[in-house]
Amino acid sequence: MTFRSLSLVAVLFPMWVTAQRLSVNIDSWEFSRDQQHWQQVSVPHDWAIAGPFDKKWDLQYVAITQNGETEKSEKSGRSGALPWIGHGYYRTHINGSKLKGKRVVLAFDGAMSEPHVFVNGKEAGWWAYGYNAFNIDITRFVQSGDNLIEVNLNNLEESSRWYPGGGIYRPVHLIATSPTAIDDWSVFCRTLSANDKAAVVEVSASLTDGSRRSLSYKLTDSKGHVVASAKGEGDVSLHVSNPQLWSPDHPYLYTLTVEYKEKDRIVDSYSLKTGIRTLTIGRNGVWLNGKPFEIKGVCLHHDLGPLGAAVNKAAIIRQVKILKDMGANAIRTSHNMPSQTQMQVYDSLGMVVMAESFDMWVYAKCQNGYARFFKDWADKDIKNLVLANRNHPSLIMYSIGNEIPEQWSEEGREIARHLQDICHQYDSTRTVTQGMDRAEDALKSGFAQVMDVPGFNYRVWKYPADIKQLPCGFLLGSETASTVSSRGVYKFPVVWGSDITYPDGQCNGYDTQWCSWSNLPEEDFMAQSDAPYTIGQFVWTGFDYLGEPTPYDSYWPSRSSYFGICDLAGLPKDRYYLYRSVWNTKDNTVHVLPHWTWPGREGQSTPVFVYTNYPSAELFINGKSQGRRTKSNITDGEFNTGRPSTLADAQRRAARYRLMWDNVKYEPGELRVVCYDSAGNPVAETSEHTADKACAIKLEADRDAIKADGNDLAYITVSLTDQNGYELPTDDDELQFEVRGAGIFRAACNGDATSLESFAKPQMKLFSGKLVVTLQATKQKGDIILKVKDITNPSLSGEIKLKAE
Ligand code: GAL
Repeated sequence: MTFRSLSLVAVLFPMWVTAQRLSVNIDSWEFSRDQQHWQQVSVPHDWAIAGPFDKKWDLQYVAITQNGETEKSEKSGRSGALPWIGHGYYRTHINGSKLKGKRVVLAFDGAMSEPHVFVNGKEAGWWAYGYNAFNIDITRFVQSGDNLIEVNLNNLEESSRWYPGGGIYRPVHLIATSPTAIDDWSVFCRTLSANDKAAVVEVSASLTDGSRRSLSYKLTDSKGHVVASAKGEGDVSLHVSNPQLWSPDHPYLYTLTVEYKEKDRIVDSYSLKTGIRTLTIGRNGVWLNGKPFEIKGVCLHHDLGPLGAAVNKAAIIRQVKILKDMGANAIRTSHNMPSQTQMQVYDSLGMVVMAESFDMWVYAKCQNGYARFFKDWADKDIKNLVLANRNHPSLIMYSIGNEIPEQWSEEGREIARHLQDICHQYDSTRTVTQGMDRAEDALKSGFAQVMDVPGFNYRVWKYPADIKQLPCGFLLGSETASTVSSRGVYKFPVVWGSDITYPDGQCNGYDTQWCSWSNLPEEDFMAQSDAPYTIGQFVWTGFDYLGEPTPYDSYWPSRSSYFGICDLAGLPKDRYYLYRSVWNTKDNTVHVLPHWTWPGREGQSTPVFVYTNYPSAELFINGKSQGRRTKSNITDGEFNTGRPSTLADAQRRAARYRLMWDNVKYEPGELRVVCYDSAGNPVAETSEHTADKACAIKLEADRDAIKADGNDLAYITVSLTDQNGYELPTDDDELQFEVRGAGIFRAACNGDATSLESFAKPQMKLFSGKLVVTLQATKQKGDIILKVKDITNPSLSGEIKLKAE
């Protein structure tokens, strides 16, 4: 079967959402970089993620002014050192026989970047920003027979401060309706009031001809029972008894269906998932369904590590599960619009969202960045951000920018007001924020005071001064921490401080390093607990991302970040457990670091830290007590002194949240920690053991069974173990992967920011003893077998079997 007939089949047997409306996910495309050589791909697609890594891609010679640099220098891995620059071309075919007399729209959720859309050789429309959703009405270009759809993309160098990816990296849908139909983005559902007994949900929609006639609405619960329905031309109220209120702990979704009838005939029908919940954000903090809600959030760039920018639902579900177990409840989609796939996962698993838009406005942070488009496109981009997302219960606020250079100016203040007004115009139910890094300037110009929610990035010690100038009486830590570490890498002596580098391009896993503008997690914990006007925080970042390898911006090879609480493979760094010990109030956390396999360090000072929610713990080495430590109780007053963050402050504050033994002498054997509750009872323990020689490959899957849908993923963590089953924490053997049966190898990643091994090649070295293999389902059911061979030590191999159902 040729490619052309394949795509025809896709459109001839589409998902008919209703008898009137056709909605097809167009995932089968041909792709080319030069319009000469074409390959078949499945969208979402990122053309650059397979590499090869090379410093020549987007090699920037710049001063990163927001990091305080004044001199230019070579920045090799700033945008990921992957081949995302240049043109990319996509084409597919659709059969027009069923489209005659219909209104036909192509709905893009984002394409990187500057997508120009052609139908049968004629340009039907384009969008400038690679991160936004947009719709192109192609009705007048469609013929009754075969139709050629082409999307041309172009990525300029020096247009991004991180890895943007390249390609149609989010889904594309073809939507065909009758000429006058429901305008999808006009549908708006908002909770006017709600408690456990009753809710009033207001809904509205309009038709593509602008009128609001003949519309009816119904809300169904997750079992398909209609819980409320009404008709009307304007805003219509739906009354729901005993509603299930949406929250991160109870992410209950209803389906809203809008119907358009003419003379009793249903002309169009459109459904979306939504939730019922109330939300207020103000002086008294965030209140969700009438209860206080503390934002424990993380910032996330859009890439999914070794999958690149190509969005994947299973990968996002995995991220959310990891974050929820840490106790996080919020995500900031830094610094751009989220994908609908992401928002749907956040709705259904329960994460609240700050949906961001821009990293720059008029003044460029990178010479070819969005500033080229801001004047002509910003209003349209904000409008689409709001219209595409306002029915998601997870969405709690919009962000109109990140560290916008013009925050000191009156012009900047007026742009802020204008963009915020656009958000309000299309969504009167949500507040608007932005992340400001120059507090004094932004407060002086009035830029900060304009915002519904003044968001401050870092400089937590300035909060006490900032709040005095904010009539609203509260602020948000819109970006916090930027602590840097490499998973499983420990540097001796343990040094505390900012901008520390080492010859191997790694950062210390003891969580003692930060950047000149940033701090350790403890300072933010204190702001959140001791300064009640701080309504929450978003840590930079939940996961490592491609690009921005600070503090190694000028070091090669280094091509991904060190900021993540989890590494690029999604494996938790030690820091994960520090956040968990404070944020996860349901489960206990007992975590000790470092690992205890240090041949050659015998007798040398090897500090030990424990991250736990318990107040004290005792450390034992081979049964000998190293003493008990109890968390300090620095008081509220200490935080409010407004003193600059110093080294001594950092260590003193850390002692409130970490238990630290600074001068432990290493000896091989067992490191055991016993935790005590506040009454002094031993309540939990954990241990680390010195590992011997490797004798087996350990394979741990995050799931035993995945869906045979062609997209689902399983993540297998691979490590080596000795004869006692203890993991080898520093091993870097090279492994090879073979997948048989109902799945394919999708990617491998070891979390090493300096590795130049391709994620797409079934061969990789362990980093700090671990790596993660991603397997993808085919559409076939059955067993999936992953076989791992150790190339460095050929006597080792292992196998794991999963199911595709
Ligand atoms: C912030 C910025 C982020 C990232 C971070 C690194 O200033 O908003 O995008 O660059 O610094 O610490």
